[in-house]
Amino acid sequence: MPKRKKIALIGAGNIGGELAMLAARRELGDVVLLDIPDKEGVAKGKALDIMQTCALDGYDANVLGTSKYEDIRGADVVIVTAGVPRKPGMSRDDLLSINLKIIRGVAEQVKGNAPNALVIVISNPLDAMVYEMKKVTGFPRARVLGMAGALDSARFQCFLAEAAGVSVKDVNALVLGGHGDTMVPCLSYTTIKGVPVAKLLPKDKLEAMVKRTRGGGGEIVQLMGTSAYYAPASGAIAMAESYLKAQRRMIACAAYLEGEYGYKDLYIGVPILFGAEGMEKVVEVDLSAEEKSMLEASAAAVRELIEAASKL
Ligand SMILES: NC(=O)c1ccc[n+]([C@@H]2O[C@H](COP(=O)([O-])OP(=O)(O)OC[C@H]3O[C@@H](n4cnc5c(N)ncnc54)[C@H](O)[C@@H]3O)[C@@H](O)[C@H]2O)c1
Repeated sequence: MPKRKKIALIGAGNIGGELAMLAARRELGDVVLLDIPDKEGVAKGKALDIMQTCALDGYDANVLGTSKYEDIRGADVVIVTAGVPRKPGMSRDDLLSINLKIIRGVAEQVKGNAPNALVIVISNPLDAMVYEMKKVTGFPRARVLGMAGALDSARFQCFLAEAAGVSVKDVNALVLGGHGDTMVPCLSYTTIKGVPVAKLLPKDKLEAMVKRTRGGGGEIVQLMGTSAYYAPASGAIAMAESYLKAQRRMIACAAYLEGEYGYKDLYIGVPILFGAEGMEKVVEVDLSAEEKSMLEASAAAVRELIEAASKL
């Protein structure tokens, strides 16, 4: 009998719980939800709750809550949310020193227990955390990616649909760059059913939405006192699903660049082809002079973060 795929979720907090629910609901495979020993009860409780949802709704997936890394052995996909989320007034960058230590420990365990897995990092500050994950595991860049562009693009799509009064299904947006205030919503590749948004919405409205997208994470932190979790989980599940089902979807992800877009040794948000090999290709698109200079500023901010991380 063919074996089910195994999806390991490191961190059983808000995003981890939602990831487990989505992975089970989509029957992507069996799920292991891991947290620190102090939170093992939470991981086990969420796992049971989700298993009982599967019984109600008719989904085949085993969900195991644990604090033991041996349980993730042989995982096909590992999604990492371990760390602390942003609190009001805290920037993603403030999280750097706390979450860096956590990611280093997690990366060692992933390397030892799931050496063939595709790793998707969500923990913030994203671009530095995913860089560290690649550095410590030594995995090829095709198998270590960060989730941010999917979420940032979805936020932009959501605001555009609302402003234009159209179904969100017809809006396609592309957001590049680092996952922070310097991200680059690309108007030239953002369309409503193929029509460039600049033809459908006035400039001032578009500028307001670009600004809202850049602050989209902070807006939710201000409202809830913690960071978003439904949409971040959906973004990572789209990536995992494209890998597990070899869909070859084009998704904006934090990817390790080796010369693409003129950058090297840096994780930054770019469109990639996500298939059975993980990142099969970085898709390079022409950018306007303004977009290029915004990407440059974003890359500089990411570099600064990675340099700060290398000193910690
Ligand atoms: N990339 C993005 O777009 C994006 C969006 C939203 C949130 N985030 C980030 O995702 C991360 C998780 O957010 P959340 O809302 O789920 O937070 P959360 O606090 O609800 O969950 C984090 C979990 O990680 C666990 N953890 C801490 N250290 C660990 C370790 N060493 N091993 C295993 N687990 C450990 C904690 O016990 C906690 O249960 C945060 O860093 C947040 O800033 C990223």
